[in-house]
This record gives sequence, structure tokens and C-alpha cells, in this order.
Amino acid sequence: MALIEIRGLSTVFGPHPQAALEKVRAGMDKPGLLATTGHVLALDRIELDIEGGEIFVIMGLSGSGKSTLVRHINRLIDPTEGTVRIAGEDVTALPIPALIALRRRRLAMVFQRFGLHAHRSVLDNVAYGLEIRGVPRAQRENEARAWIERVGLAGVETQYPAQLSGGMQQRVGLARALCAGTDIILMDEAFSALDPLIRSQLQGELLALQATLGKTVVFITHDLDEALRIGNRIAILKDGALVQVGTPEDILLRPADDYVAAFVRDVNRARALRLHNALAPWPQTHPLPALARAVDVDAPIESVLPRLVGRSTPIALRKDGRIVGCVDVDAVSALLAPQG
Ligand SMILES: Nc1ncnc2c1ncn2[C@@H]1O[C@H](COP(=O)(O)OP(=O)(O)OP(=O)(O)O)[C@@H](O)[C@H]1O
Ligand SMILES: [Mg+2]
Repeated sequence: MALIEIRGLSTVFGPHPQAALEKVRAGMDKPGLLATTGHVLALDRIELDIEGGEIFVIMGLSGSGKSTLVRHINRLIDPTEGTVRIAGEDVTALPIPALIALRRRRLAMVFQRFGLHAHRSVLDNVAYGLEIRGVPRAQRENEARAWIERVGLAGVETQYPAQLSGGMQQRVGLARALCAGTDIILMDEAFSALDPLIRSQLQGELLALQATLGKTVVFITHDLDEALRIGNRIAILKDGALVQVGTPEDILLRPADDYVAAFVRDVNRARALRLHNALAPWPQTHPLPALARAVDVDAPIESVLPRLVGRSTPIALRKDGRIVGCVDVDAVSALLAPQG
């Protein structure tokens, strides 16, 4: 059973969502519904399984329904139809007190525009999740200090959000989500407002934290390079419907349709794709090289480009301490050439 199970989720915004959804079921599309009834079909029959411990990325153009979808996981929005289950528990049917308890225990959220409490210090912002759970002050402040240090902000505990740069505020948001001690973190365009260098640093830190903490992260972005770097799996939304769910390599090498293909067209494939995608058997005509000369099969393609260009002999690839095959310049070129 997946940690988060989304089944038949449809959401219409407007005064009569149920009636509007019936029109959709009778064949009306999203633009038609808006034009004739003023209702917005934000999500349309979403089916999704998010596994515990994965970084699951949701991508799509502006207005495709990403924020709406993630807000169903902590039920900031009620669906018109369908269910969301967390560890088997139907979030969409929970009475409000049980919902609040579930949110405090399992769900933290990091917003695009930080969403910090302006009149609380950094320390009190980070400790907030523990405070509302009734953790005594000394204990929650100790934990908050540890997380502030972990995200590289030691020294700013007594400052207020407005005194910090955007990048620092985003780190406070991240520390607050981590300090809350939940197993699920929802991140809605959390890094999108940051400049590229800070953004890349925070992506790296999120990956490092994830490797040690094993949280389940649902991460929204409209930046494909970001999605490919941090996502274990990626879902692509278009007009409220899922068009593809897969690993970064599925999305790049086997785009489900033209919309996905257009998304991936400008990606740096040499960075996003790993050598195993071009793996071929070692040619019997060549003597097998020493293991020390082989490259890890999971390394990005770009790591061998300088060694490959202008060479006719292939480069050996290794996995688990043995040579498993090779890549040559033709296989790599075929993979890097844009499709279609
Ligand atoms: N509260 C609301 N009332 C009415 N329509 C809404 C509401 N929230 C979202 N919508 C509509 O639902 C659709 C999906 O919006 P959503 O905010 O989920 O998109 P998004 O993919 O997060 O976009 P962005 O990348 O711009 O954040 C859009 O057409 C939007 O106009
Ligand atoms: Mg959004």
C-alpha cells in the first residue's frame, strides 16, 4: 500500500461544483465549462500513489492544477469527488478534530512565499509546529535551534523574517517544516522565488536531508531541471489531468505525448541522463580494461564526455565492483540528440 493514495479525485471551483462536474462527465471540456458556466475544472480524475520515503515531483504549466492537487493531501481543499488516503486513512472523510491531529502529526508544508509569521522570531517560527503540539518551551527551542543550525542559519534565531533575505527566509520555512517532525513534507514552488545559485544549494541540501531523514516529500515545481535533479518520480499535469507519471528517465526518454515532449525539449540531457541508458556489452574484440579505469554506470553522461569525444574505443562501465559493459560515442550521441 502506498503512503499517499489518491483515487478518482476531481475538483471544480465555483458555486455549483457537483452540477458542473456532471456536465464534464457528459463530455464538456475545461474551456467549455468555464465559458458556459463560469466553473473551473481544476482537477480531473486524478489517480496517484506516492510511496513513503520518495521525493515525488508534480509539474505542469501555470494553472494546470499543481497547487490544488497538493492542497488536497492536507485537505486545505475538499474535492468535488474522490478520496485521498494517508497510510490507509481517508483524509477526505475525517472529522475536523481528527484532521487537525493528522496534519500536526504527519503533514508539514513549505510555501513559495515563505508563509512565515512576521511577528515571531526565527526561533519561534521554527518551533511553531512543536508549540501547537504542546511541547514544553525548553525542549522545542532546543530542537528548533538544532534545525536552524542544520539549514545553515545559526546566529539568526532572534531575528524576524523581514530582517532576512529571501533565501534565508526559505531556509527558515524548511527548518520549520523539518522541526515539526512530520513524515510528509509538502513543498509548493518552495524554491521558485530564489536566484539560481541559492536554489541549487537548497536543492542539494534537500537531497542530503532526505538521504538521512527518509521523509516523504511532495514537491511542486514548474522547473524541469529542478524536477529531474530532485525527483525520484515525476507527475505531469495538464489542464487538471495527469498526462504522465514516471521516473525522470521515463519522462525524458519516453514522453507520453507532445505536451511532455515540449516540456523536456530544452533539458540538459547529458546531465539528466545516466550512463546506464547507453550501456552496451563490452566488445569481445577488445581486451577488458582494469576495473579502476571503468566509470560508475549511474554517473551522468556528461561526466565521460571529455573522455569520449574523438575516441573509437569504448569506456567501460562498472556496477557493484565489476565491469558490466561499456558506452561508446555513437550510443551516447544517439541518446543526447533531441527526439522528433
Ligand atoms: N480558489 C479558487 N477559486 C477558483 N478557481 C481556482 C481557485 N484556485 C485555483 N483555481 C483555478 O484552478 C486551476 C488550477 O489552479 P492551481 O492554482 O492549482 O494551478 P497551479 O498549477 O498551481 O498554477 P501556478 O503554477 O500558477 O501556481 C486554475 O485554472 C485556477 O484559476
Ligand atoms: Mg500553484
